[in-house]
Amino acid sequence: MRIVTLPQPDDFDAWRDAARGLVADATPPEDVVWQVAGADTDLFAAQAEPPPPAPPGFSVPRAFLDLARNAILSREPERFALLYTLLARLRFEPRLLDDRADPLVRRLDRIAKDVRRDIHKMRAFLRFREAPEGDGEGAATRYVAWFEPDHHIVRANAAFFVNRFASMRWSILTPEVSLHWNGEKLEEGPGAAKTDAPDGDPVEEVWKTYYASIFNPARVKIGAMLKEMPRKYWKNMPETALVPELIAGAQARESGMIETARAAVGGNSRIAWEALRDEAKGCTRCPLYKPATQTVFGEGPVDAAMMFVGEQPGDQEDLAGRPFVGPAGQLFDRALGVAEVDRTRTYVTNAVKHFKFEQRGKRRIHAKPGAGEIEACRWWIEQEQMLVRPQVTVALGATAARSLFGRVVTIGRERGRAMTLPEGGAAWITVHPSYLLRLPDKTQVEGEFARFVDDLRKARATIG
Ligand code: URA
Repeated sequence: MRIVTLPQPDDFDAWRDAARGLVADATPPEDVVWQVAGADTDLFAAQAEPPPPAPPGFSVPRAFLDLARNAILSREPERFALLYTLLARLRFEPRLLDDRADPLVRRLDRIAKDVRRDIHKMRAFLRFREAPEGDGEGAATRYVAWFEPDHHIVRANAAFFVNRFASMRWSILTPEVSLHWNGEKLEEGPGAAKTDAPDGDPVEEVWKTYYASIFNPARVKIGAMLKEMPRKYWKNMPETALVPELIAGAQARESGMIETARAAVGGNSRIAWEALRDEAKGCTRCPLYKPATQTVFGEGPVDAAMMFVGEQPGDQEDLAGRPFVGPAGQLFDRALGVAEVDRTRTYVTNAVKHFKFEQRGKRRIHAKPGAGEIEACRWWIEQEQMLVRPQVTVALGATAARSLFGRVVTIGRERGRAMTLPEGGAAWITVHPSYLLRLPDKTQVEGEFARFVDDLRKARATIG
């Protein structure tokens, strides 16, 4: 029996070092006891044997590391053992992670997903209150927030808050650990109680700036927005008071909002985009997040002149976490090459950010997203549009066109001509690359491919 004692409940590095050594030593999962240092850890101390050192050059798939980094943060006591079992099996079943029907893979996926949702909740709903510090000359303001996470996510979330509120002095108090930022250095303290945090109204300006930065007044849906914020959070939220003001300003304010978004992150759109992408990881706006592996967000430079919008990630995109990498993506790449469009200089995303599928045995068969799912996901595409501000947007297929234009679009009627998006900005509509893959009459493929390339060329010509 081997006993592994991790110093902290969220210590991924310690778990990884121990797990690598154990798996290299072929230690069966049932012979390992995992525990976190604490009051009752001495129980097994006498029998404990330190794990063997990790062998050099032992590597695991990237997808496993992503899964493990999240799952470790769970409160599920079995997480260390489950992950170790998965790691041990991966040595002999290298494609195990692709088997979404495997009970262990499914269980760990669910655990990781709960953690991602908790990370998102902390980012979205934590509120600072003002707490004066010191007297006289040395008086300063510290912003203090109380939060009760469901999982061990606080340390993992620290960098996000440091980035977003870099110039403030703040503390985040939670029952397990506290974080203190003084504008330069992050320090950790012991857990706290709710009564340690100041009472009173949250600091409005900080949140109003942030909220305004992500608010799109052109598409206000108050009902949907309030539904998105659980009641227990929004009663104290300054932005609910801000809503009427934002609506009143409506479209006229949009360009001002974009500037606010950039200013809120020191003019750096990449940081704003990263924050947006991170928020999308915990998206639960529609039920598609449940069976999917992960959110597949857009990718590409935030100052791209061209944006491509597809339908939704497919099986391979869902596993890789990147848009257009499967068969349709390869065809798309080929067409871009012929049209002389450099994909790395474009922004590529999807109307729907989670893979919708039907499970048939071990296979996951693509299912078309419905109107409700497209509508729920428009939130993200609008934010991507506001940040990237492409000179031209190309809708690949009917789902993308529906999302961008907010109406049903018949591709055959509207493809291949310059259009304008409802919020402004040039757009083109063309077919989805998978249309070419599905053509029953193979003699048509060449001609249809040439038409697709022609549409891409025309769209590119819009930007000169
Ligand atoms: N189809 C899409 O619409 N998007 C992808 O990312 C992959 C396939």
